[in-house]
Parts: sequence; structure tokens; C-alpha cells
Amino acid sequence: MTIKIAIDGPAGAGKSTVAKKLANLLNFTYIDTGAMYRAITYKVIKEGIDLKEEDKIAEIAKNSSITLEGEKIFLDGKDVSYEIRRPEVSEKVSYVSKIKKVREILVEKQRAIAEGKNVVMDGRDIATVVLPDAQFKFFLTASLAERAKRRYNELKSKNLQIDYLKVLEDIKNRDKMDSQRKESPLKHTDESIVIDTTYLSEQQVLDKLYNIVKEGLKGD
Ligand code: DC
Repeated sequence: MTIKIAIDGPAGAGKSTVAKKLANLLNFTYIDTGAMYRAITYKVIKEGIDLKEEDKIAEIAKNSSITLEGEKIFLDGKDVSYEIRRPEVSEKVSYVSKIKKVREILVEKQRAIAEGKNVVMDGRDIATVVLPDAQFKFFLTASLAERAKRRYNELKSKNLQIDYLKVLEDIKNRDKMDSQRKESPLKHTDESIVIDTTYLSEQQVLDKLYNIVKEGLKGD
């Protein structure tokens, strides 16, 4: 039997950093599903496709090859890990990720990547849709201001030119779109362990998750 760990939550709650580290500690594969929505969005922008052209966007999702190697993401064989973090991608990704067909295609790809492996997968709908049978379901949250601050610092450390208020505005808009959309909105399940990370350090969050998983695996 393989072990699946789902980590969901809003933008900037610290999911990806913690998910990556947890996967490393456990020697599991890390799957960043947000990066997949971002990669499709990047291609949509590059090809000049209007965000209202949902069928064309779904075609792109269907015909693109997306592969993940550790922290890197390859789109049609090209490393786009840096490009997908650009603000213009962040601004538009919620429009792409609300398209039902795009979600269906990417969910299928995500399940295929996770098949037969021990994984830590992070996103918005992992526990609810992608891996409903996951043995561990975490939902990480934090205050809006704290999440904006973290995202701002993360972008700055990657040398991306960015304004704090713009990051705050972007996260606010994405929160709204991600949680109010019709298809797989951001929410936790009854079984999810909800952790508010506002006043916790990255290490504290990691320790919490790691201990819960270790404890849970003891019984197996
Ligand atoms: O985690 P992130 O900020 O890189 O995600 C980018 C966007 O992708 C986010 O605004 C919502 C969307 N997303 C989604 O709808 N479902 C997922 N499983 C992961 C991300």
C-alpha cells in the first residue's frame, strides 16, 4: 500500500515549503499541483489566448506535457519553474483553474503521477477531489496579511520585482476566486486536520505534520 498525504490551503499559507520538506524527510515524492495550473496559464499567456476562450485553454491543458522533477516543472520539455512564478501568471491562474475541463485534465494527470508512489501533494482540492482516500489530510491557513508577507518575501528572494500591496491584492482576489468558484472550490473535509500557521514558524509547522504522520504510520 502506498501512502498519500494531501496538503490544501489558500495561497501563501506556507503549503509548498512545508510539503517539500515533509516529502524530503519521509523520502516521498512531492507534487506541486499549483505549479501545473501555473504552467498551463503561462502557456495561455505566451500563446496570446483570451481567458474567455475556455475550450482553447482546455485543448492546451490536454495537449501539453507537464512533468515534475523534484522542485522543477517542465512544460513540453522546457524548464519553466521560474516563469510560472511571475506576477502575470499569478494574476491569471485563477481564471484558468476555474475551467471545469482544465481541472478534469489536470486532476487526471495528478492522479497518474501519484499512482503507485508515496506522495505529498499540495493544492486546493487534493483531499476533496484528487486523492479523497489520502491517509493524511492537512489544511493549512494563515491570516491574509501574514500570507501576503510570506509570498512577498518568497518572490523577493527569487529576485522578482514586486510591490507588497500588489501581492496583498492578488492574494485577496485569488482567495475569493478559489473559494467561490463552482468547480472544486477551496475547502477542507471533515477529516482534515486544520492548522493555522499565522504564529507558527516553518519549522514548527513541519514538526507538527511530521509527528502526526509518524504517529499515524506506527499503527500500519
Ligand atoms: O498554490 P499556487 O499559488 O501555486 O496555486 C496557483 C493557483 O492554482 C491557485 O490560485 C489556485 C489554483 N489551484 C487549484 O485550483 N487547484 C489546485 N489543486 C492547485 C492550485
